[in-house]
Amino acid sequence: MAKKAPKEDNGTGARSAGERIAKVISRAGAASRRDAERLIADGRVTLNGTAVTTPATLVGPEDTIAIDGAPLPARERTRLFLYHKPKGLVVAARDPEGRPTVQAALDPALPRLQPVGRLDINTEGLLLLTNDGGLKRVLELPSTGWVRRYRVRCHGTVALERLEALKNGITVEGVRYGPVDARLDRVQGANSWLTLGLREGKNREVKNILAALGLTVTRLIRISYGPFQLGELRRGAVEEVRGRILKDQLGKKLTEASGADFEAPLREDPSRKPPSSPARAEGRPARKPAPAKMPPEPSHRPPRGKGKPTSSGRPAPRRRDAR
Ligand code: URA
Repeated sequence: MAKKAPKEDNGTGARSAGERIAKVISRAGAASRRDAERLIADGRVTLNGTAVTTPATLVGPEDTIAIDGAPLPARERTRLFLYHKPKGLVVAARDPEGRPTVQAALDPALPRLQPVGRLDINTEGLLLLTNDGGLKRVLELPSTGWVRRYRVRCHGTVALERLEALKNGITVEGVRYGPVDARLDRVQGANSWLTLGLREGKNREVKNILAALGLTVTRLIRISYGPFQLGELRRGAVEEVRGRILKDQLGKKLTEASGADFEAPLREDPSRKPPSSPARAEGRPARKPAPAKMPPEPSHRPPRGKGKPTSSGRPAPRRRDAR
């Protein structure tokens, strides 16, 4: 378990002597853990001025880590954002095929954010974003058990008993999917609207499970992730979860497991300021996000996650639109 951060840790984010350097880099939001390992393999990371050769290197609060000669960003307060991902964006820092990415669509004034899990390019809805690699990892773990809930439009119809049977899990082409809470909301001609709740986060899980039932997914919207709801968040918009609410929803166990830090300062990174393009300088977004066009509501709302029902809570949340 991570111990509480010492008051002064020279900005490396290391909590105590003996944390793996790749973990410290990732928690500082400088790179994902995998990218940190790659940076180390490429000889781009130094510890107290000496090149690091293995990601297993242990560092302590007195150590100075640098990437390409630049000191690691100082430890920042753990933050979480709700993002209404539009379809057509890839959830990746870069896409080898050159398709538009979520990272490129986000307002450059936001801190450096990593997605919690992935959504397929054509999936819409709630994507959690965080500046804390430790929190990302913990929220992605199936063992954390947070339900990801989806509204799904599919082509075809399905017997209710087959949907009901998904609560026992299903194996599709050798992949075992755990219990799925599935319900039929409405049938519209050749289409069915379903709501599915899953706790794992496996690749293409909704599409694969429904394909095994003879259904083709034609629209997929994530409406909640654990206690956080998409609600009325406009397509393309970003909303920060208030620190107190985040802390309450994580509870002691997840806070400790992730190493989340609610005491560290909120830092402004000058390199993340928006470029002074005429549109932004005048306070206008470069591109207005399209208004949300949500599917018809089911007759009853999905059950909320455990804990208080919330997105970012009141008073009015701070909202930022993606470009
Ligand atoms: N299941 C899928 O098939 N795709 C997603 O993007 C998310 C869940």
